[in-house]
Amino acid sequence: MNNINYPEQFNKHIKRVIISKEEIDAKIQEVGKQISDSYDGRPILLVSILKGAFVFMADLCRAISVPCEIGFMCAKSYYSGTVSSGAVKITMDLEQDISKYHVIIVEDIIDTGRTLNDVVKLLKARNPLSLRVITLLDKPSRRLVEFKADISLFTIPDYFVIGYGLDCAEQYRNLPYIAEYQEQE
Ligand code: IMP
Ligand code: MG
Repeated sequence: MNNINYPEQFNKHIKRVIISKEEIDAKIQEVGKQISDSYDGRPILLVSILKGAFVFMADLCRAISVPCEIGFMCAKSYYSGTVSSGAVKITMDLEQDISKYHVIIVEDIIDTGRTLNDVVKLLKARNPLSLRVITLLDKPSRRLVEFKADISLFTIPDYFVIGYGLDCAEQYRNLPYIAEYQEQE
């Protein structure tokens, strides 16, 4: 199952593969074609939210067969209790003036919805030509803030997942598949 040569103390937390590399690849090709067809001839800017979405971004941009630019930002959202304050702290911002682009936000996973809700508000205020959100994974049962992506590749139950860019305490991002994280052995 695990083709990464992790020592046992890491391996024991990889409970099972829930989405294989092949399943991810197939879905990305489909979505890449969809984007290529619907955005052809328009200036596209793919915006990835670091760090989790970096692997998805790398594969998605290579599945797009029309010209596109890429940008990265690092965002952290603040909230009190279950209510998002709408305040998002950008620890690394985009370098592009997005008013010249059709922006597609590329995210790894939507959980409570707080981060994307805030990032979308912030980017909309910068007047992009259009703004859409693509997420690799969606956990709708965990939502605290109403948020719906335009394209979601896989909907998953309330599991904590690792791999393909997603981490647990900064580990496991290099697994080529999505796995369920096991708290104890
Ligand atoms: P949200 O603001 O709660 O939607 O936060 C989403 C962020 O939390 C994602 O971009 C991930 O970085 C992180 N996250 C949420 N669920 C998981 C998970 O199952 N595994 C790893 N990271 C997760
Ligand atoms: Mg993320």
